[in-house]
Amino acid sequence: MPLLLQLTLIIVVAFLSHGHESIAQYVPSYTSAVVPVNKHNDAVIPLYSAAITATYINTQTLKANFLIDIDAPFNWHDCILQWNIYPDGCPANTPCTYPVSCEEYVCTDVRTTHTYENPTCPPVTNDSTLPGWGYCTCPVTVVDPVMGSCGQALLDYDEFIMKTSNGRNVFTSTYSVYPNAACAPSWSFESFPTNVSGVMALSTSPHALPAYLFQPIKRSIALCLPSTVSAPGVLFFGTGPYYLLPQSDLDVTSLLSYTPLIKHPDSFGYFIGVNAIVIKKRSIDVLGNASTKLSTIDPYTTLRTDIYKWVIRRFSMVTKRIPPSKSIAPFGLCFSTFSNVSLKVPDIDFSLQDGKKWSISTANSIKQVTNDVSCLAFVDGGATTELPIVIGTFQFEDNFLVFDLENSSFGFSSSLLRKHTSCANFNFTLISSH
Ligand SMILES: *[C@@H]1O[C@H](CO)[C@@H](O)[C@H](O)[C@H]1NC(C)=O
Ligand SMILES: *[C@@H]1O[C@H](CO)[C@@H](O)[C@H](O)[C@H]1NC(C)=O
Ligand SMILES: *[C@@H]1O[C@H](CO)[C@@H](O)[C@H](O)[C@H]1NC(C)=O
Ligand SMILES: *[C@@H]1O[C@H](CO)[C@@H](O)[C@H](O)[C@H]1NC(C)=O
Ligand SMILES: *[C@@H]1O[C@H](CO)[C@@H](O)[C@H](O)[C@H]1NC(C)=O
Ligand SMILES: *[C@@H]1O[C@H](CO)[C@@H](O)[C@H](O)[C@H]1NC(C)=O
Repeated sequence: MPLLLQLTLIIVVAFLSHGHESIAQYVPSYTSAVVPVNKHNDAVIPLYSAAITATYINTQTLKANFLIDIDAPFNWHDCILQWNIYPDGCPANTPCTYPVSCEEYVCTDVRTTHTYENPTCPPVTNDSTLPGWGYCTCPVTVVDPVMGSCGQALLDYDEFIMKTSNGRNVFTSTYSVYPNAACAPSWSFESFPTNVSGVMALSTSPHALPAYLFQPIKRSIALCLPSTVSAPGVLFFGTGPYYLLPQSDLDVTSLLSYTPLIKHPDSFGYFIGVNAIVIKKRSIDVLGNASTKLSTIDPYTTLRTDIYKWVIRRFSMVTKRIPPSKSIAPFGLCFSTFSNVSLKVPDIDFSLQDGKKWSISTANSIKQVTNDVSCLAFVDGGATTELPIVIGTFQFEDNFLVFDLENSSFGFSSSLLRKHTSCANFNFTLISSH
């Protein structure tokens, strides 16, 4: 985009946002921005992506699928950088964005403070050791969330466009955020599902997407992962209401319980306090009320060996009537089933602070592994794992989850299937906004 046009846009935008403040009665018709969430079964683990439209220098807009990662410090995707700000500086059909120079404050900030923490990556050196000045583009370390391998990307100025919503439908009007993201070479995404070529950072980092939200959209996200690849779930930026069919008048926020998000040093991810795991009235205490991590990458809930053993022991006791089967890795407790018979097992409850409980019902505890074997979808994380509990995506599916960054609280619905709806029930019908 030519510089003059950009400046004009900035002025118009500044004028418009100022205009909003001066008209006290003005109420925007949208409360959130909304994007569909797809499940992918073609990578080594099930993964989830959100489709975002990005704008590039050559005024192209391109829809791209970004892996949902609630732990990542910043967004990065398949793009190239172009110093020349004129459209023809950019090769045709190439997603290219403006670079952040090594001299800019944001470069040092991302490199030294808001970076991926991974001991296997080369140590971060500070700005004085960067390759050069002037036309030097800011290099940042990225970690492939699937393989855990280190890579390098270049920091950029990005624009992501989403459709707005009233929580009920999708509006034709859009909402743009302007994050600093990073461009990585195409091969960085080889381990990702087909057509997924970016990472959407939804963490608490000041360079993750929620930090770039502005009024009237609040710094809160709602994530509803689908259990099937055939219909999308939904991701909202902003507060409710949120409606899922068929009850078009039931605001999902009324189904939520809340627990505080706990700060964890050296992580931009989300943690909650779990006091105990309760199975059919018997409680397995988690010593020291350890903070439990929430992960959109780990496929199954991982428990430290001592907790895992108790959970397996208790769960096999309460499922004595179900014929056992030889276990299939990575699971340790499996059952014989027939493909036409679904098991019914007792809930596994995460007992949280203030007496709240997150109930994991059969759909989120038992995974059908083969036609005739189903397994308890919890895995042993080892005796010395740093985090005693990491809750994974199989337990998230068809649960409505709210990460409220303004109030530092976490809202959860437990299984929506019990409320006769699912994450695949948002009405994505596009309607024109007024
Ligand atoms: C950055 O480099 C300067 C100069 O070499 C050094 O004094 C400083 O300690 C370094 N800071 C970090 C965080 O490495
Ligand atoms: C990938 O994207 C292309 C082009 O949009 C589409 O034709 C193809 O079906 C997609 N493949 C998958 C596996 O989604
Ligand atoms: C764990 O939390 C419960 C309830 O919040 C509290 O009663 C208990 O004292 C806590 N235990 C530890 C070791 O912090
Ligand atoms: C389940 O499948 C088995 C074998 O295919 C069949 O014999 C049985 O009648 C089926 N049960 C139900 C409830 O459909
Ligand atoms: C935080 O809590 C206040 C008071 O309950 C509420 O009005 C506000 O909407 C909340 N913020 C978000 C982002 O949900
Ligand atoms: C989805 O929303 C549209 C527009 O509001 C409405 O006409 C349609 O009936 C809704 N679909 C269902 C299944 O309720």
